[in-house]
Amino acid sequence: MSGRPVIVVGAGGHGAVVADALLAEGRTVLGFVDPRPDSAIGLPGLDLLGSDDNLDPEAGYDLANGIGGTGAGGDRDLRRRVQVRLEARGFHFTSVRHPSVVVSPHAALAVGVQLLARSVVQAGARIEAGAIVNTGVIIEHGCRIGAFTHCASGAILCGEVEVGEGSHIGAGAVIRQGVRLEPGVVVGAGAVVLEAGVGEGMLIGVPARRRGIA
Ligand SMILES: CC(C)(COP(=O)(O)OP(=O)(O)OC[C@H]1O[C@@H](n2cnc3c(N)ncnc32)[C@H](O)[C@@H]1OP(=O)(O)O)[C@@H](O)C(=O)NCCC(=O)NCCS
Repeated sequence: MSGRPVIVVGAGGHGAVVADALLAEGRTVLGFVDPRPDSAIGLPGLDLLGSDDNLDPEAGYDLANGIGGTGAGGDRDLRRRVQVRLEARGFHFTSVRHPSVVVSPHAALAVGVQLLARSVVQAGARIEAGAIVNTGVIIEHGCRIGAFTHCASGAILCGEVEVGEGSHIGAGAVIRQGVRLEPGVVVGAGAVVLEAGVGEGMLIGVPARRRGIA
C-alpha cells in the first residue's frame, strides 16, 4: 500500500468516515477538498482545502474518494464521475482498509476499494475499483461487486452474489446466495432480495419487489 499522504475528496459524512479509517490505518490525512464548504462535515483537526481546482497532481499525495450516497434521488453517478475526472488529471485514488476488517487472502480487491470498519470479505470475492464496503458489511464467498457500487452499512451479500457497477445495496439489506443484480440497481434499506432485478430499478421490502426509480 502507498504510504503517501492523502487528501479526501468530499467532506460530507462519507468523507469523514473515510478520513477516520485512513487515520486508523496510520496514514497522514492532509484535509478535504469540497466545493460546498457550508455543508461540509469533515473531521476535527482536518482542514478544508477549498475545491479540487486547488489540487496539484505533482505534489506527492494520493486522493481518497469521500463521496458516498444513499441510493435515493440526486446524482447517483457523482462518485464515479468525480474520480474519473481527477484520474484524468493524473491523480491516484488510494484504497482504504480500516484495521478492523477481515479480508480473505483469497479475495481480489481492485485499487481504490474502500473497506470500512468491521466489514468482512470472504474467499473468492472480487470487488472492482471505487466500490464501498461500508461499516459492518459481509461480502460472502465468491461474490462479485461492480465498480463504484456502494454496499451500505450492515448489508449481507450471501455467497456467489453478483452486483453490477454503479449500484446501491441499502443498509441492512440481505441478498440471497447466487442472485445476480444488473448495473445501477438500488436495493432499499432492509430489503431481502430473493431473485434478480432486471435492468435499472429499485428493489424494496421483504421479500423485495421491483419499483421504478424516481
Ligand atoms: C429505497 C430508497 C432508495 C428509496 O428512496 P426514495 O426514492 O427517496 O423513496 P421515498 O422515501 O420517497 O419512498 C417511496 C416509497 O417507498 C417506500 N420505501 C422507501 N424505502 C423503503 C425501504 N427501504 N423499504 C420499504 N419501503 C420503502 C416508502 O415508504 C414510500 O412508499 P409509498 O409510496 O407507499 O408512500 C431509500 O428509502 C432507501 O432505503 N435507501 C437506502 C438508504 C441507505 O442505504 N443508506 C445508507 C447510507 S450509508
